Amino acid sequence: MEERDLAIVTGAASGIGRATAEVFARKGCDVAIMDIDNAVEEVAAAARAAGVSCHHARGDVAEEKDVEAFVSEVLERFGRIDVLVNNAGVVLVRPVEEIAVEDFRRVVDVNLGGTFLFCKHVIPVMKRRGSGSIVNMGSVSGHVGQVDHSVYGATKGAIIAFTRALAWEVAPYGIRANSLSPGSVDTPMLRGDIEIESRKTGLPYEEVKKIREAEQAFRRWASPQEIAEAVYFLASEKASFITGTDLLVDCGWVAK
Ligand SMILES: NC(=O)c1ccc[n+]([C@@H]2O[C@H](COP(=O)([O-])OP(=O)(O)OC[C@H]3O[C@@H](n4cnc5c(N)ncnc54)[C@H](O)[C@@H]3O)[C@@H](O)[C@H]2O)c1
Repeated sequence: MEERDLAIVTGAASGIGRATAEVFARKGCDVAIMDIDNAVEEVAAAARAAGVSCHHARGDVAEEKDVEAFVSEVLERFGRIDVLVNNAGVVLVRPVEEIAVEDFRRVVDVNLGGTFLFCKHVIPVMKRRGSGSIVNMGSVSGHVGQVDHSVYGATKGAIIAFTRALAWEVAPYGIRANSLSPGSVDTPMLRGDIEIESRKTGLPYEEVKKIREAEQAFRRWASPQEIAEAVYFLASEKASFITGTDLLVDCGWVAK
């Protein structure tokens, strides 16, 4: 990426999205960040302090009117969108028979629907410039079966499949599309998973955490920054011949 490219990062108030916005800003990219959580304001302030321009908004990636409004604000302010990182996501840890239809729909609408809506509204902008790079957030859950993660895993598998088709669709316009599948990353989302497992098993949180860390090849979780650096690589010109792929950043989880 050249300096002053503009990168959109969704779900940037926390975890991987926050680290991704910080990495892009540190590397000299202007950023536009959207999240349903007010903490997006702090991330915007930090990006501005790093010396780049930042547009931020509270919004729901599952709502087309929010996505449309955000994309047109970004376009009005920066006149370009070089990178789109569809990171916003929610997890659902529950056995299938206990999942309410509304919860099923919400996870699909946010994870897959949000990715679709942002692609729908950003791709015309990228097409006009004849360039662009899209990174959609997958997960190891889209590759392997994880107990109580059926609906979440289905949305991530769908994002990976969506991205493969998208890559072929947008390639004639100079646009790349890839997904990235993290393993265990130390964020509020994963910590919430551990709390649920701790309640289910009756084991203390720290003990469950130790067990889950011991399952990793390096016996530790990733930091959000390690994922953010991989997102940056995939979005950047360094990855100019990479499209339609899923980059596993999972410490060997799927390789086992
Ligand atoms: N943490 C992990 O171990 C892990 C592993 C694999 C994949 N992922 C994926 O990485 C992405 C980021 O997860 P994280 O671990 O940083 O989680 P997180 O909960 O720390 O952050 C997710 C962010 O998305 C935002 N968000 C949720 N719903 C939204 C909506 N409808 N509209 C706008 N923003 C919304 C949240 O407010 C939050 O700021 C997700 O797509 C997740 O599925 C995480």
